[in-house]
Amino acid sequence: MPDEFTVTPWEVKGKVDYDKLIIQFGTQKITEELKHKIKNLTGGELHVMLRRNIFFSHRDLDLVIEDYEKGKGFFLYTGRAPSLGMHIGHLIPFIFTKWLQDKFKVNVYIEVTDDEKFLRNQEYTLDQTRSWAYDNILDIIAVGFDPDRTFIFQDTEYIRNMYPIAIKIAKKLTFSEIRATFGLETSSNIGIIFYPALQIAPTMFEKKRCLIPAGIDQDPYWRLQRDIAESLGYYKAAQIHSKFLPPLTGPEGKMSSSNPETAIYLSDDPKTVEKKIMKYAFSGGQPTIELHRKYGGNPEIDVAFQWLYYFFEEDDNKIKKIEEDYRSGKMLTGELKQILIEKLNDFLEEHRRKREEAKKLLHVFKYDGKLASEMWQKVHE
Ligand code: TYM
Repeated sequence: MPDEFTVTPWEVKGKVDYDKLIIQFGTQKITEELKHKIKNLTGGELHVMLRRNIFFSHRDLDLVIEDYEKGKGFFLYTGRAPSLGMHIGHLIPFIFTKWLQDKFKVNVYIEVTDDEKFLRNQEYTLDQTRSWAYDNILDIIAVGFDPDRTFIFQDTEYIRNMYPIAIKIAKKLTFSEIRATFGLETSSNIGIIFYPALQIAPTMFEKKRCLIPAGIDQDPYWRLQRDIAESLGYYKAAQIHSKFLPPLTGPEGKMSSSNPETAIYLSDDPKTVEKKIMKYAFSGGQPTIELHRKYGGNPEIDVAFQWLYYFFEEDDNKIKKIEEDYRSGKMLTGELKQILIEKLNDFLEEHRRKREEAKKLLHVFKYDGKLASEMWQKVHE
């Protein structure tokens, strides 16, 4: 029987069966044993997204840990294709990457693909994707990365240092491999055919093992990287993959920028958040209060509960209580939604405050910080 879901870098359809996806993509489940190892290295603390298996799958994370223990170190790499406004789902890999950076004190490279976005969409101009890059970078800085150890770069600006690496990668990959991996058509523009070399290039910014925290939709790029990295004298990139924050409208697919009612944007004001959650958030509750009290709600499909579970309610005891009360019918859908609205608005208010401060730091992360200036120096070597 064909799978009822699809996961590609461009679309996520249906209710994703993450266990099946691990088999389909040939990745490894993050075991309790591996989590235990990480916990021992991070001062006895595990990030909520690891505790709750939001980051659920990996490749070579065990080797990254080994390298770290042996003192060889590693580095982190993640990215973003800029669009008009980020939504809260986009923050998942960045929040988690920041936690890893805090705990392991490692370099982080963040690629902002103004080229990818331009090439993929007929209707967008390069001026547009570049201005969205500026805008999205502020949201990324607001997450709180270490300015000495983080380099945020836009492809169209940093290309001079990436190009020599990218053409070595490109020479190892054939058109038919790219076509088969990404399902391209012969009518695809040639920029899109070359683009994977640019997404792979940052995995070779250092001669250490690279760990990529990202949604599992980006995995096809890393499979290609792993086929060729060693022949170029680099490590196969390691990954830690996250699940998708479900759209407001139900447990299927992923929150997507192209559908405003499915998403909460980082710029949504408190009234908009309240309106969207009340109107659109898919409920696992019963149609009437009487039935709800009798049969209870289903947290597995309830989007408000799922969002709290992903990261808005970090306290394990509190989330357990909410789950029990909702399942038993003690807590109503409206009450559950109210908890989420408050959490979301607090989070967004704080995010926007940090985003204002980020304006002053933009230059540091892109050009003048310790890592950023080292990376720009390479352009002149
Ligand atoms: P983009 O801009 O589509 O997505 C940025 C990151 O957000 C993740 N993501 C989500 N995670 C959880 N729930 C969601 N609903 C959700 N929607 C998106 C994505 O998996 C991704 O990690 N080609 C890339 C840009 C890129 C990149 C990278 C991403 C360049 N280099 C290295 C990750 C790592 C893109 O289009 O991302």
